[in-house]
Amino acid sequence: MTVDLLLGLQWGDEGKGKIVDVLTSSYDIIARFQGGPNAGHTLEFEGNKHVLHTIPSGIFHPKAVNLIGNGVVIDPVIFMQEIENLAPYNINFDEKLLISKKAHLILPTHRLLDAASEASKGKAKIGSTLKGIGPTYMDKTGRNGIRVGDIFASNWDEKFQKLTNKHLEILKNFDAIIEYNLEEMERVFLRSIDALRKFNMVDSEHYLHQAQKAGKKILAEGAQGSLLDVDFGTYPFVTSSTTTAAGACTGLGVAPNKIKDVFGIFKAYTTRVGSGPFPTELFDEDGETMGRVGNEFGATTGRSRRCGWLDLVALKYAIKINGVTQLMMMKGDVLSGFDKIKVCTAYQTKEGVQDYLPYDISTEDIQPLYEELDGWEEDLTQLNEVTQFPKNFLDYIDYLEKALETQIKIVSVGPDRAQTIYR
Ligand code: GDP
Ligand code: IMO
Ligand code: MG
Repeated sequence: MTVDLLLGLQWGDEGKGKIVDVLTSSYDIIARFQGGPNAGHTLEFEGNKHVLHTIPSGIFHPKAVNLIGNGVVIDPVIFMQEIENLAPYNINFDEKLLISKKAHLILPTHRLLDAASEASKGKAKIGSTLKGIGPTYMDKTGRNGIRVGDIFASNWDEKFQKLTNKHLEILKNFDAIIEYNLEEMERVFLRSIDALRKFNMVDSEHYLHQAQKAGKKILAEGAQGSLLDVDFGTYPFVTSSTTTAAGACTGLGVAPNKIKDVFGIFKAYTTRVGSGPFPTELFDEDGETMGRVGNEFGATTGRSRRCGWLDLVALKYAIKINGVTQLMMMKGDVLSGFDKIKVCTAYQTKEGVQDYLPYDISTEDIQPLYEELDGWEEDLTQLNEVTQFPKNFLDYIDYLEKALETQIKIVSVGPDRAQTIYR
């Protein structure tokens, strides 16, 4: 049996949560493979709106098992808040939620280190969500981290204190002064650890191997986006995990030859939250309109997202790195009413015109070159099938499919589960 992957092709917030929720009825297991509570995945259905951070987006379906993989970093405080927020849905977490023992824990001092690191960078800050992601992955690769399975160990207290003390020493080396009440943070943290102990912890790679053998259908859910990948994103303005397809192998223990479809999600335009280069970013009325109509505010931090036209140079790169087999285009409805739709097809750089993503895309050195398509006036949000699409919207989809050499299988025309059209 095989595993399908779903991941974002831009700088995050493409609508992954919505599509995982839509696809869950065809899968037995939804497995999140990387990232942590820096993610905010929004789902809307039957008048409910819900944002998930650590819990996979299949949790609202009656049957699917949701697995938090070893590649994820978990803040028990945020995790328990998520669990509490799900109370109205009467979900049986015993049956439906599994956590890898090998997932790493975000400690209160990881969050402090994140804050100190960002504050000391001044203008050069990454624009982190400040959830402690970078410091936790640093401890993981530095072989100092604490894993979820360790909370059952007899020396848990000692481990926790040792790493906390180490962090407090490191904090002294930062120039920036950050204020905090560690005692209170630790109190809440340890209470959440107690609550976490009641959840189902598993050897998740083993569980997934058994599931594959038994013919179960598995969908791996990515967080962030390909351009935030620690290797292939716009470094250093990236997150600290492998957000691209390979991350599902290391983040779940799934072998590369077991992966079948790779679903790549993209918005019909581009957004980015936090710092870092963004060649097609708009600072005019068009960008303002995208942000307003698209309600472009971060699901985790509430910060407004920067907006711009679709960047095919970056998108083609992401499709290659991930081996995308099917595309899903989100938020086409947001572009209704634009007279002309622009698409960046190449960059003008100091070296000449380039149609692939260069080493450094810092905005000063790069000018996006655009092609223009005719826009459409019609509201798309009430449409149910492709035959109802306005001609210019269909032309936009056809144009993108040709340019990207990949089929666009799903077109999303609104935030609700029902506003999803298959082609
Ligand atoms: P994720 O992090 O990739 O899961 O995406 P987010 O949830 O952070 O951001 C996507 C936002 O767009 C959410 O507010 C969704 O409810 C919303 N959304 C998803 N698909 C569509 C769509 O097709 N049209 C519109 N207008 N909104 C959408
Ligand atoms: P989802 O899964 C959008 C961005 C932050 C910052 C950079 C590093 O909802 O798509 P970090 O907290 O990881 O240290 O931040 O990455 N970022 C995201 N942007 N969506 C996300 O997740 C993001 N997770 C992190 O804004 O620029
Ligand atoms: Mg998001």
